[in-house]
Amino acid sequence: MSKLSRREFAAGLAAGVGTTVVLGAEAARPGAAAAGRTQPNGGKRPVVLASGNGFRTGATQTAYERLAAGDDTLDAVIAGVNRTEDDPTDDTVGYGGLPNEQGVVQLDACVMHGPSNRCGAVGALENCKNPSLVAKAVMDHTDEIFFVGAGATQFAKDYGFPQVDLLTDHARRVWLLWRETRSLKDSWGPGLDSPEFRKKLEARARRLRIPEAERERAINRILNPPTGTITCLGVNARGEISGVTSTSGIAFKIPGRVGDSPLIGAGLFVDGEVGAGGSTGRGEENIRVAGGHTVVELMRQGKHPREAVLEVLQRVVHNFRAFPDRLKLFDLSFYALRVDGAYAAATLWDRPAGETQPRQFAVHDGVNRLENMAYLMRRES
Ligand code: GLY
Repeated sequence: MSKLSRREFAAGLAAGVGTTVVLGAEAARPGAAAAGRTQPNGGKRPVVLASGNGFRTGATQTAYERLAAGDDTLDAVIAGVNRTEDDPTDDTVGYGGLPNEQGVVQLDACVMHGPSNRCGAVGALENCKNPSLVAKAVMDHTDEIFFVGAGATQFAKDYGFPQVDLLTDHARRVWLLWRETRSLKDSWGPGLDSPEFRKKLEARARRLRIPEAERERAINRILNPPTGTITCLGVNARGEISGVTSTSGIAFKIPGRVGDSPLIGAGLFVDGEVGAGGSTGRGEENIRVAGGHTVVELMRQGKHPREAVLEVLQRVVHNFRAFPDRLKLFDLSFYALRVDGAYAAATLWDRPAGETQPRQFAVHDGVNRLENMAYLMRRES
């Protein structure tokens, strides 16, 4: 542990957070099998590492197939992430992403190519399903790196990216539910923690004709606005490595807000001689520790990917030493892939707020699967 001894960490959190602190179960066993393996074959086959939504949407499968076919590593991981961006059922990335507070979907992404150390990024991009491809176009067609807002949107149009309305009917209804229950006008009356507030949400969800089967999930979106994202890192059998991170950002964000995902060094960093680091979750906390770059830097210093991702999370915790109880209000995950194929993923909390299952990440090294993430703290049940 870096700045904070393990005892201080556990004591500080136990005092303030009111959670069961289990730094130890997963986190204190460096080299444990789960969530941090070294390929037995020394990296002689491709490895793709992604956030859990990469498994459900087919991103890891596509990226692995493209790597195995000999495609460039950046093209391969982007092709994987395009599956998530195109999938309207993932409401945290691309088409169907939840909009900002004005009902406008604004997308962020960045890409980084390890063999050349080149990169590109877009922020607050509108009307285009695939910000990862636009970020790659910025890298390929300009001498600059990061385009935002109207400039990014115009750039995508100029380069022939199809212009589409990104707001699906489902995302629009969830946004209306948020607006009707969270607007300033409506902030009198029962609070978020009151059963009455939940009843109000349910009644409004019915009025907005959100289908019954989708209502529970929609309400959870309001109570815990998602910061979901996809990060996808891939290394081929020659040890060439690239990465991409893509998101619609925190749901119902203030227009123009850009999080960590398109920031090279935060949402993603790749060093072709060391490895790659990516992140999902509350971007503001990641920006404060430059997580993507820090993960890679720790691996450069000789740390295993597992130690690297856990140490970055410990830095996030350290930033909250004055008010540790606030840690329970967000989650943040880091992913690390070394050029020899060793990988790990870790998250602040063992499971997402309001859910019972552990948070998982996706990996494909010939077998496409989900694994439980390492974590620092366990939520009270
Ligand atoms: N990590 C996604 C965001 O904060 O926008």
